[in-house]
Amino acid sequence: MWWRCVECGRELDEGPRDHRCPCGGLLEIALELDQPPSGWRERPLSVWRYRELLPVPEGASPVTLHEGGTRLVDAPRLAELAHVRRVQLKVEGGNPTGSFKDRGMTCAVTWAVHDGAAVLGCASTGNTAASMAAYGARAHVRTVVLLPAGKVAAGKLAQALAHGARVIEVEGSFDDAMAAVIELSRDGHLALLNSINPLRLEGQKTLMYEVLDQRDLAVPDRVVYPVGNAGNISAGHKALVDYGELGYIKDRPRLTGIQAEGAAPIVRALNEGAFAIVPIERPSTLATAIQIGRPVSALKALRAIRDTDGVARAVSDEQITDAQGLLARLEGVFAEPASAASVAGLLALAADGALDASEEVVCVLTGHGLKDPAAAERLAKPPITVQPERAALIEAIR
Ligand code: F0G
Repeated sequence: MWWRCVECGRELDEGPRDHRCPCGGLLEIALELDQPPSGWRERPLSVWRYRELLPVPEGASPVTLHEGGTRLVDAPRLAELAHVRRVQLKVEGGNPTGSFKDRGMTCAVTWAVHDGAAVLGCASTGNTAASMAAYGARAHVRTVVLLPAGKVAAGKLAQALAHGARVIEVEGSFDDAMAAVIELSRDGHLALLNSINPLRLEGQKTLMYEVLDQRDLAVPDRVVYPVGNAGNISAGHKALVDYGELGYIKDRPRLTGIQAEGAAPIVRALNEGAFAIVPIERPSTLATAIQIGRPVSALKALRAIRDTDGVARAVSDEQITDAQGLLARLEGVFAEPASAASVAGLLALAADGALDASEEVVCVLTGHGLKDPAAAERLAKPPITVQPERAALIEAIR
């Protein structure tokens, strides 16, 4: 196992503190993949089912909360609305802290602890903070999170606080907090656990491995991801490369990235045929998880989408809220707004006429609906209050 720059190709034996190549480029983990031992498919579905495909430090036992193994749920009513053969939802809200972040965190925290880190740190729109705080607690290591002040959903903030993180609100955007935390990591003040740390993406590969395994290696036509800092879709691509190398799959799904209109630098770069993004200075969307104007893994995501003949699409806040309501009421699945962006994107692409009727699509629902109670209040009218009397109750039921 070694570190490789995706920009200049340089190879390193160790990951630099700020996870940047000396040339400034993004790093990835290069792994010589071993075929897992026979019978490995009998292991329960989970991140560590794939341990031979993940980097694990010599002799370390993983810091784990039993992440992964999430449900892949059929969504027939959404399939009907999108005019495609099949839609399945990968419900990542089922992870220990309620989002996909736990997949990468188990991997990267295991390394940080092995390396003797005294303080784990990240910038976050909320879910990374909640996850890192939980895994830090599990490993008995201090955690520090930098959050954009006033822009993090209540559930996520509550989790970071409950798990004992030092929560610092930064007067600025997520992108400002991200730049600050990279700087702090460079000077050795904390071990950086954002997805610019390529060990995070290794763990996040398992989301795509699981989707393929849950479909008995029948490759879907399309996998739709909400995109913020652009790590998750990049990890999905790496998983496809791995499964291709191991001979498990031949084709690849079209990776489809969805961003909120007010925070869509990757959509713009793809539309313009550009190879780098132009950052958005004041990103704005009610899907606060993906309110990001300068995604750190943009380059990887652009390559992932292009390499799989995928697309990117922006959706409005109204489309996101509508999709969140549809998911909750038509399919019984409660996902947070950023997650519903994938479904909003699917419906928008259907309306564009960009989908084929024969398609089988997987939408990744990245986080649980309970993360953001304020968003849920936008989905329905408030409760009604009545006296506990028969007539009043019957009237209310009507
Ligand atoms: N969905 C949710 C619920 C998220 O929390 C995030 C990212 C994404 C989608 C986008 O994934 O960044 O890999 O493209 N949340 C980060 C955080 C930025 O700090 O929790 P991405």
